[in-house]
Amino acid sequence: MSRAETEVQDRTAILAEAFRHALLLASEHEGATAPNPVVGCVLLDAAGAVLTAAAHLGAGLPHAEARAIALARDAGLAERIDTVIVTLEPCNHHGRTGPCSAAILSTPAREVWYGMPDPNPVASGGAATLRAAGLRVRPLAELNHPARAALVAKAERLLAPFATRVQRGRPFVTVKQALDASGSMIPPLGAKTFTGPEALLVAHQLRRRADAILTGSGTVRADRPEFTVRHLPDIAGKSRILTILDRRGRVDAEYLALARARGLQPHIATDLADALRGLAEAGCNEVLVEAGPTLTELVRASGLWDEWVLIEKAPLGQSDQITITRNLPLKDH
Ligand SMILES: NC(=O)c1ccc[n+]([C@@H]2O[C@H](COP(=O)([O-])OP(=O)(O)OC[C@H]3O[C@@H](n4cnc5c(N)ncnc54)[C@H](OP(=O)(O)O)[C@@H]3O)[C@@H](O)[C@H]2O)c1
Repeated sequence: MSRAETEVQDRTAILAEAFRHALLLASEHEGATAPNPVVGCVLLDAAGAVLTAAAHLGAGLPHAEARAIALARDAGLAERIDTVIVTLEPCNHHGRTGPCSAAILSTPAREVWYGMPDPNPVASGGAATLRAAGLRVRPLAELNHPARAALVAKAERLLAPFATRVQRGRPFVTVKQALDASGSMIPPLGAKTFTGPEALLVAHQLRRRADAILTGSGTVRADRPEFTVRHLPDIAGKSRILTILDRRGRVDAEYLALARARGLQPHIATDLADALRGLAEAGCNEVLVEAGPTLTELVRASGLWDEWVLIEKAPLGQSDQITITRNLPLKDH
């Protein structure tokens, strides 16, 4: 291999590693940023050394690129910024914070790599703006590296809740369904669950990242579930909407009051599609369906779901089996 070829290979390896780093940072904030997406950013100097790295921490707070640039300024490193790696195309509009395209143009950066195009028509166009200003701007899909497919898949999945909301007008719908050895969802008399500790942790991780929980009157009446995040720390200050499908008004006021006291925002709904639309309008990027067999089947039949987390009870002494299925990944990316 020639020296030039080796240099190109080294450079793509550096870029792939920077993307891995940026995606990891973004994933640490899953569930914390709605209605915004999770985003991570890494700034490199001309030799490929990491200058700073940052994630978007929440709505109204600076975007990942702006944070990484501010950190570089604070550390006296801003003049060395050469390459920006960011998991989502830099935004191009004045929202609650200034456009990231402008923030990048205020640095000496020459090259920008982004994970996914911005699915939000209001904010997209950052790549074109930066290109028009003379920067080399490339999507992750063009990175010539063996890890590219895995990195693109991760970037797509991290963006999917936000992309689903802005493109489909409903949140990303995750369904959690636990089955016992006989294929039943109903726990034994007197119990609220039948799954083991690992599956329980997964269930609470799903709840943690969700902006809303959707259940049915049957589950509320049978279990009076708390729907709080336990077994791991919750996101500080986060309050989830609790949508209960209940056409016959069988959910009592006391349950709703107790849910409110636990920090949830409970409300009754009578139609699945309407409820999902309302959640998107309220800024929810992801909803977790935790319902009994009736509503779970309704969600499956409606096709209004994106990720199905199936927990199958294992025989005593073995771990439950967890299978995650995606429904029609977004084609437009
Ligand atoms: N294994 C698991 O993963 C899991 C998870 C949660 C719960 N569960 C168990 O599931 C059991 C409860 O089952 P379930 O099927 O009665 O509960 P569910 O699916 O949570 O709730 C069913 C209720 O939803 C209401 N609903 C509202 N809109 C509906 C619509 N468009 N179509 C159909 N129903 C609609 C219906 O009441 P209205 O007709 O009044 O609207 C229906 O009775 C409990 O034993 C609980 O422990 C298991």
